[in-house]
Parts: sequence; structure tokens; C-alpha cells
Amino acid sequence: MSTHRSTPQASHRPSPSCRPSRVGSPVSSPPRLSRPDVIARLRAAGCVFAEDEAELLLATARTPAALAAMVDRRIGGLPLEHVLGWAEFAGLRVAVAPGVFVPRRRTEFLVDQAVALGRRAARPAPGRTVVVDLCCGSGAVGAALGAALERVELYAADIEPAAVRCARRNVAAVGGAVYEGDLFAPLPAALRGRIDILVANVPYVPSEEVGLLPAEAREHEPLVALDGGADGLDVLRRVTAEAPRWLAPGGRLLVETGERQAERAVEAMAGDGLLPRVAVSDELCATVIIGTRPGPDPSDRP
Ligand SMILES: C[S@@+](CC[C@H](N)C(=O)[O-])C[C@H]1O[C@@H](n2cnc3c(N)ncnc32)[C@H](O)[C@@H]1O
Repeated sequence: MSTHRSTPQASHRPSPSCRPSRVGSPVSSPPRLSRPDVIARLRAAGCVFAEDEAELLLATARTPAALAAMVDRRIGGLPLEHVLGWAEFAGLRVAVAPGVFVPRRRTEFLVDQAVALGRRAARPAPGRTVVVDLCCGSGAVGAALGAALERVELYAADIEPAAVRCARRNVAAVGGAVYEGDLFAPLPAALRGRIDILVANVPYVPSEEVGLLPAEAREHEPLVALDGGADGLDVLRRVTAEAPRWLAPGGRLLVETGERQAERAVEAMAGDGLLPRVAVSDELCATVIIGTRPGPDPSDRP
């Protein structure tokens, strides 16, 4: 993971003609696809943002052969982020491997809410704010929190081995640790009762609606990252049930849901003893439910 604030420039690529080639051996690399070629192939395959995607592919491919292969994979339906090997998220360039959930732009709202609360919860030096990214996928949310907050103790966990491998790259870059397993089970027991900010972007698509998702999600992201059970809230309910034992007094749980699920998610949190509130971003079409473990407000810390 590296910080990334603008589209990479194609001119930063090493010139293919500078690559060493063995004396006397025939050079058989294919001719490099031109920008108009790439745009035309993407457009013919139905890519809505063919120009933008072409820029990213041209800027990322190191050789003509790599560019041709990337264009083929994209035309074959692989999500752009899986083709590139990274996604832009909250101002960061986050590594995303094939088979790992691609972080969505709307989840930046979850990050914004968590950053605001994390700043309020800051412990006086040399104390550190304890942050956990549960169901971390690529680790995009945890990495963004680690980059935005000062003096954090950062942990992340996911059940999918491919996601954990990816998260280890992204979260380690900001000094965090990543664990593999079911929800809270793999976390160090010493975190019980100490977590200030617990973010969990759990799968929340109702099972019956998974088939309605775009093919890029259905075919290239694991079902475990999407399917939230009958009403989409199975995993969320398991998280809210356990969260009070892991949160510090005054600590917060933040989860993303669909707008239609917000009321039931609020009920689940309240039923498990958390004080819920709903935050909505019309701009990002995002809904976040924030549950507070009753206790002293962390912003009152001396
Ligand atoms: C919607 S994706 C979110 C990924 C990431 N937080 C993000 O926003 O990009 C949900 C993630 O939850 C993980 N997951 C699903 N069930 C889980 C469980 N029981 N324990 C841990 N992780 C789980 C999936 O592997 C997937 O990576």
C-alpha cells in the first residue's frame, strides 16, 4: 500500500526499449497497444469509463505483453482493481488481489465517521487508541484509519485466507497486525474490554439478492464477502452480540448497512446493550450504524 492522490502518469513507466535483451536472441515481444487501441477494445467490450480505465492500464503495465494481458483480463470481465492489483481508497493506493473484495467508495464514509470518533477517543501520550478492523477484506478500512489517526494500536481480521494475505500487505504498511479466523475468535484475548474503535464492514447483501449483483461482484468476489443471510444481517448480529465484551467503556462499534436494513441493525445493537445512532451520507449513498458501549465519553479523558 502506498499513499496515492492522483492518477499515475504513464510517462513514469520505464521505456520498453530500455529493457535488456540477450545479444543474438530474437526479440519477440508484441507491439505495444496504442492508447486509441486500448480505448477501442475496452469500449467495444462495454466499459463505460473506457478512457479512464485505459489511462490506468497504460500507466500500470510495465511491458507491451503485460498491457495486452491486462486488457484481455479486463475485457474478460475481471474487475479493474483486480487487473491493476490495487484500488484507490480514502486517498491511499490499496493492494487488492484477485478473489478479494474490492473496497467500495461508499465505505469511505465509514472511515470518515471512525476517524472523527477515533480523534475524540485519543488517549493522552504515551497511550494509544485501540482500533480493530473486523471482516477486513483487503484491510482498506484499517489501513485508512492507521494512516489518518495518530498513535493507534491497529488490528485486523478476516476469515478468508486470500483477504488476510492482502490485508497483511496493506495493514502492515501502517504498523498493524492481521489475524485469520471467524470474527473475534483470532484476536488476542488481551484486547477484551480495550477496543476504542471497532469497525466491521460485514457482508450485508440478503442471500436472495446476491444473484442481482453486477457480474463483477458475483463472479469475482467470494460469496462469504457478500452474502449476509436471509435479511443480510446475520454477520452483523453476531458482531453486535460479541462487541460489548471487546469494547472499552465508551468505545464505539461502526458498521455499514443498506438504508433499508438500518432500523433492524439499530434494534440489534440496542438489544445487545449498545447505544445506537445512524449516520447517513447522501453523497456516497452510505449508511453507518454507530453503537456506543455505555461508559465515560472518551473525549472526556484528561
Ligand atoms: C463486504 S466485505 C468488506 C471487506 C473490507 N472491510 C472492505 O470494506 O473493503 C466483507 C468481508 O468479511 C469477511 N467475512 C465474512 N464472514 C466473516 C466471518 N465470519 N469472520 C471474519 N470475516 C468474515 C469476508 O471474507 C470479506 O472480506
